[in-house]
Amino acid sequence: MPAPTLLLVDDEENVLHSLKRLLHQEGYTILTASNGEEGLEKLESTPVALVISDQRMPGKSGVDFLRLVKERWPETVRIMLTGYADIEAAIAAINSGEVFRFITKPWNEGEIKEVIRQALERYDSTTKLVEALKSSNLQAVKALSEAVELKDPYTRGHCDRVAKYALGIARRLNLPEEEIRYLEYASYLHDCGKIGVDREVLNKAGELTAQEWEQVKKHSQMGENVVKQANFFLRIAPLIRSHHERWDGSGYPDGKAGEEIPLGARIIAVADAYDAMTSDRPYRKALSPEEAVAILSKEKGKQFDPMIVESFLEFLEDNK
Ligand SMILES: [Fe+2]
Repeated sequence: MPAPTLLLVDDEENVLHSLKRLLHQEGYTILTASNGEEGLEKLESTPVALVISDQRMPGKSGVDFLRLVKERWPETVRIMLTGYADIEAAIAAINSGEVFRFITKPWNEGEIKEVIRQALERYDSTTKLVEALKSSNLQAVKALSEAVELKDPYTRGHCDRVAKYALGIARRLNLPEEEIRYLEYASYLHDCGKIGVDREVLNKAGELTAQEWEQVKKHSQMGENVVKQANFFLRIAPLIRSHHERWDGSGYPDGKAGEEIPLGARIIAVADAYDAMTSDRPYRKALSPEEAVAILSKEKGKQFDPMIVESFLEFLEDNK
């Protein structure tokens, strides 16, 4: 594989110089620019895996520049370099998805190398997933959903079962075959955004910190973005985005309620929850099918669409 190309953007010559020297040793191909405009020109002519940009520069700020990079080259991973005074802006940029990580100046060499390694791992997984989606075949999609699952070994086989349950519900509801086909793809891909969540966070046995939880919650939007990047059945993107919404409006990312939530997402939510409850997780043992059914019934009209729960319980009864 050719060395990944990194673009460094900073108006301070000495910062560019020392970063370049440090990263050159790691075998990366390095491009530099002294402001956002110049950075955009470089990106237009060369594919770049990772952009590291200073926040305070003459002309466009780092955040504004990185937002443009996100719009035009969504697969390129973005890191912000910032002084202590700008940490709030950096955190806001992470929370809005504009930036993958930030690095404070002056930096620690070990830390910067590790952040870059993680960023390139993210670039690699995302580009592979997008490529496979472009090929649009169910086999490739299944293989990839498995790759995401392997990152989270507790969920092995999860996508297969979610697809089976979701299709069972859809058939009971007499949805058109075309809708069922989209639902099948969406079931396999519903958690593909987990490709962007740190492995340690996915496999953590203890309780997540508030920040880790925020990271996990982003997987539905990241999944939507991956599917959109591949121009892959754009109709399934809203299903992936909304698979953690709740019937009573208390879910994420948009707090949609009732029929505002796409039907396919309401179906996946029930299928996903039942399979999660009946599987072992790092933080708890599996519940019995009876216990899981009792929870679904209790959450009818709260977390879940009552009609979907009814159909799913009938499906389970028929397949005993
Ligand atoms: Fe999910």
